[in-house]
Amino acid sequence: MKKVSVSAPGKLMLYGEHAVVYNYPSIVTAVGSRLTAIIEANNSNEIVIDAPQVKDTRFVDAAIKVFSNQFSVVSNVKISTQSPFSGKFGFGSSSAVTVAVLAALAAFYKTEISQRELFDLSYRVVMDVQGTGSGFDVAAAAYGGTLYYQKGGVKLEPLTVDYSDISLVVGYSGVKSNTVEIVNEVARKKELYPEKFDKIMKAIAGLVDNAKEHLLSKEWDRVGKLMDFNQEFLRDLGVSTEKLESLISAAKKSGALGAKLSGAGGGDCMIAICEKSKKEAVAAAITAAGGEVLDVAWNVEGVSIEI
Ligand code: PMV
Repeated sequence: MKKVSVSAPGKLMLYGEHAVVYNYPSIVTAVGSRLTAIIEANNSNEIVIDAPQVKDTRFVDAAIKVFSNQFSVVSNVKISTQSPFSGKFGFGSSSAVTVAVLAALAAFYKTEISQRELFDLSYRVVMDVQGTGSGFDVAAAAYGGTLYYQKGGVKLEPLTVDYSDISLVVGYSGVKSNTVEIVNEVARKKELYPEKFDKIMKAIAGLVDNAKEHLLSKEWDRVGKLMDFNQEFLRDLGVSTEKLESLISAAKKSGALGAKLSGAGGGDCMIAICEKSKKEAVAAAITAAGGEVLDVAWNVEGVSIEI
């Protein structure tokens, strides 16, 4: 094959961040901030990588290594990436690039790989490079949709519902957060206050299971309320910020059913769930409170071959 182009979506955590690191369940949705990997033949006898959207090319390098060890030796190719979204929003460009490059290599070298295999290989790559992570972002990129997810893909259940009567509004706080640093800070809290920590983790796990049921039965009021509860526990963990709190409170005052930070905290994005009729008011309130509203679709398709 001369050229392949494969895209993978980004992610947002709906419920269960941090607890998912400790093997409790979470709910993640794939978002329409896609990253595309293009592979084409290149006669220069080397592998050329042109990936301006990703922080660094370690994920691409590691994906090439894993693919070469497992399937066919990668050589004489140019790998480039494209994405309309900046990596700064925390949509998971590292996991999206890993999944997209591995799927593109499989298509380029005509190698059959299952969705599960793609997830497992991509998770291995991300762990090799990053050292920590539940893999929820890899799951969103590989499977798409909205998933009930447990670390390492122990649980990976699509929550297939028609979400078209509800809106998710996303507000960027203007601060880029450092996930690994915050995950390490939370780990220190576990050491310092093991009992309190355990209580918070179990409470989050309980609300995630509840949220799964209410999502499946489309009880949006409950879905919203559970976001609020989740935010309270994230605040107790110390990962929220004043800016996130003010965006969350603005969203709720303007009619959102619930709102919380999404991801590690310390910055990045907050999310608010609301009825379609309230979407504009909620977005305007977030903007007025100093957030940057990002117009992204959610529950979108997973990795897909474009050509
Ligand atoms: O900061 P993000 O968007 O990459 O999310 C991190 C979520 C954590 O649960 C804190 C870590 C993880 O790997 O699941």
